[in-house]
Amino acid sequence: MIIKNAKFYLGGRVVSKDILIENGKFKGFGKFKGEGIDAKGLFALPGLIDPHVHLRDPGLTSKEDFRSGTRAALAGGFTTILDMPNTKPPTTTAATLRKKAEIAKKKAVCDYGLHFGATKNNFAEVKKAKPKSMKLCMGETTGKLLVDDVYSTWRHFEKFPKEKPLLLHAEDEETLRAMEKLKKGRGEVAEKIAVEKARMLAAQANRVVYFAHTTTFEAVHLAKIWGRSLVEATPHHLFLSKEKDGKRLKQFANVYPPLRSEAERRELWGALYFVDSVGSDHAPHTPQDKEAGAAGLPGLETSLALFLNAYNEGRVELPWIINRMAESPAKIFGLKTKGRIGKGYDGDLTLVDLKEKWNVSADGFESKCGWTPYEGFRLKGRVKKVILKGKLVVDGSRVVKEIKGKRVL
Ligand code: DOR
Ligand code: ZN
Repeated sequence: MIIKNAKFYLGGRVVSKDILIENGKFKGFGKFKGEGIDAKGLFALPGLIDPHVHLRDPGLTSKEDFRSGTRAALAGGFTTILDMPNTKPPTTTAATLRKKAEIAKKKAVCDYGLHFGATKNNFAEVKKAKPKSMKLCMGETTGKLLVDDVYSTWRHFEKFPKEKPLLLHAEDEETLRAMEKLKKGRGEVAEKIAVEKARMLAAQANRVVYFAHTTTFEAVHLAKIWGRSLVEATPHHLFLSKEKDGKRLKQFANVYPPLRSEAERRELWGALYFVDSVGSDHAPHTPQDKEAGAAGLPGLETSLALFLNAYNEGRVELPWIINRMAESPAKIFGLKTKGRIGKGYDGDLTLVDLKEKWNVSADGFESKCGWTPYEGFRLKGRVKKVILKGKLVVDGSRVVKEIKGKRVL
């Protein structure tokens, strides 16, 4: 396949060249003869990687499944996603990981990885399953994954292979329970205490930890005091706030960790440089489940577009987007053939129109959940075409083809 006249970063410079993909890999950049896909006017990003996605399969497939979720990923510009373990049953044993892998193999239409889940006592299962990454929830959230005692946390920190990413949902359970009793809501102090606890234990265990969805400037800085902390930011904590959007969305705004104040949201932008990756934390729930109090927001189909819009407003640079949404997740999760436009890498591309203005609407979105917290937002910058291992799978902003995804983690 040849992609003609695309603009893209190559070796740190913006170039306008044809891109040749052969046998699913980038083969060369230059001028090539023959038919191809015209990418004139589009900017090519490496196929994006979302390290934090809840696909709900198995067990909660009325909210999402591997097919609908990976179609949503493609529509949003992601060619690789990493799935979270809080499914039904949770991915906390070798058998449940194997089962999930079988389901994903049948249904996934983009590349994918599967995070394993830590429990207070699944040490033998971790050893047996040999997962490439693991998630540990320090505070209660959707599903039953909870490791809220220092003893089990510390043991996981020490036992889980040090070269593999250990992801943390950092909200301190004891603090959350106290805040509930004191009727203080689910404030950011629970996050800061969890971050402090985790980075100190990580230092003791001499291991890297990955803080999922950090929500405040201070939490990012506390995490980074331990030089081997990795920090993820989510679009909703950067683009939505409690005052503005909480009022508008009512119980649909419910998410853990919660949306913060407008002042904190603004401050978080000041920590952008210290953020290692963007995770959408795509956590789809049906409108009925949301009415009943479910926490979590869908995000796969809006994440990139929100950052492209921010780029157009002069708030973030394209190299930052490319790094935090492709290069850096590839590096953190050891996806050696992903995250770059370069010879020998997987031929995955996200072609965007940086200038197109569009109105966000869940009508026509691929996610099964059928709603978005960004309904009605007018954004500048849109995914137009996606190429997965040399195949055009999104065209005109729509999924046009399904090819089998491969497991990368
Ligand atoms: O709000 C949330 N929803 N936070 C999480 O950590 C999990 C997620 C979900 O799975 O619904
Ligand atoms: Zn999550």
